[in-house]
Amino acid sequence: MRVYPLVRDLLFHFDAELVHHLTLSTIGLAGKISPVAGILRLFFTLPPQPVECFGLTFPNRLGLAAGYDKDGTAYRGLACLGFGHIEVGTVTLRPQPGNPKPRLFRLPEAQALINRMGFPGKGAKFVASQLGKSRSPELIIGVNLGKNKDTPLERAVEDYLALFDIFAPLSDYLAINVSSPNTIGLRQLQARQALEKLLRSLKVQRQQSHQKLGRRIPILVKIAPDLDDRELDDVLDVVEGQEMDGVIATNTTIQRHGLVPDVLKMTSVATESGGLSGLPLFSLSLSMVRKIRQRGGNRLPIIGVGGIMSADHAKAMLGAGADLLQIYTALVYGGPTMVKQLLRGL
Ligand SMILES: Cc1cc2nc3c(=O)[nH]c(=O)nc-3n(C[C@H](O)[C@H](O)[C@H](O)COP(=O)(O)O)c2cc1C
Repeated sequence: MRVYPLVRDLLFHFDAELVHHLTLSTIGLAGKISPVAGILRLFFTLPPQPVECFGLTFPNRLGLAAGYDKDGTAYRGLACLGFGHIEVGTVTLRPQPGNPKPRLFRLPEAQALINRMGFPGKGAKFVASQLGKSRSPELIIGVNLGKNKDTPLERAVEDYLALFDIFAPLSDYLAINVSSPNTIGLRQLQARQALEKLLRSLKVQRQQSHQKLGRRIPILVKIAPDLDDRELDDVLDVVEGQEMDGVIATNTTIQRHGLVPDVLKMTSVATESGGLSGLPLFSLSLSMVRKIRQRGGNRLPIIGVGGIMSADHAKAMLGAGADLLQIYTALVYGGPTMVKQLLRGL
């Protein structure tokens, strides 16, 4: 008998964000108690199937997307669920509360979530203290960086550079988040000129840090599924021109086309503002990944994310040109065995 659907039905009676925090604390605690972590690993983890991507060796193709472990408090426990990499964050330089609650909504009829979290978090200093000094060879950690709400857009580069300095020594790769729909103005950083300015500064910072770090830290750019073809072309030009190491496609969408009319009729939650994730996002993310691969040839590494809820979705995303995959919403609807299930199906 499958246990998770019963647990999920119970959990879904409670507020979505509260349940998220409870789950995260439990997984975090489990990861800190060695015998428990060992049992979890035994149960959930498959033998490694190493994949080389942007100079790193990942134990498998599937990672946890940003937003689940924003403050880096549970990544060791989450890794015991079988993920090949964990993307911590989005981390902002200073702590901030995020948007007013409620800000996370479930749409079970559509296997989807809508969130307008707005980067709540304890800030860079706290997250750095969680990550510790020594990187582990078995666990790939990415840190996803964003600007504070009260940092004016013209000064966003300063936030990202300060975050780069803090997290480059502590992570395996960095993800530059310019695509969350819940921080006003953030997505304007995807426009050609703004992106060029940001990525050029990061490129210089990386060159300067190379000797001190003893390695070249990969930088990826996380993009929105709502870019039109011309905007996507601009982003890819700049990403390649500034020698970034890849793209993460995609973040949540502000569109609601993926929700069938029945779902829209059934739940008023569908009209909440914020980013939509899960099943209705899949076709949009898939088509972005396909376009990026066609446009970027075989050179540009892609992490495909958005609505991967089954092994067939995962296979389709790889078929469209993704090198690695990430999930978030599938973990909420499918539970902890989801990772094993998806990896087995590949
Ligand atoms: C509650 C929630 C919070 C999120 N927070 C972040 C975040 O802080 N930074 C980020 O880059 N993406 C964030 N995301 C987006 C996910 O990383 C992912 O790109 C998106 O949900 C699509 O994947 P999925 O359909 O598998 O969930 C968040 C998603 C959700 C559902």
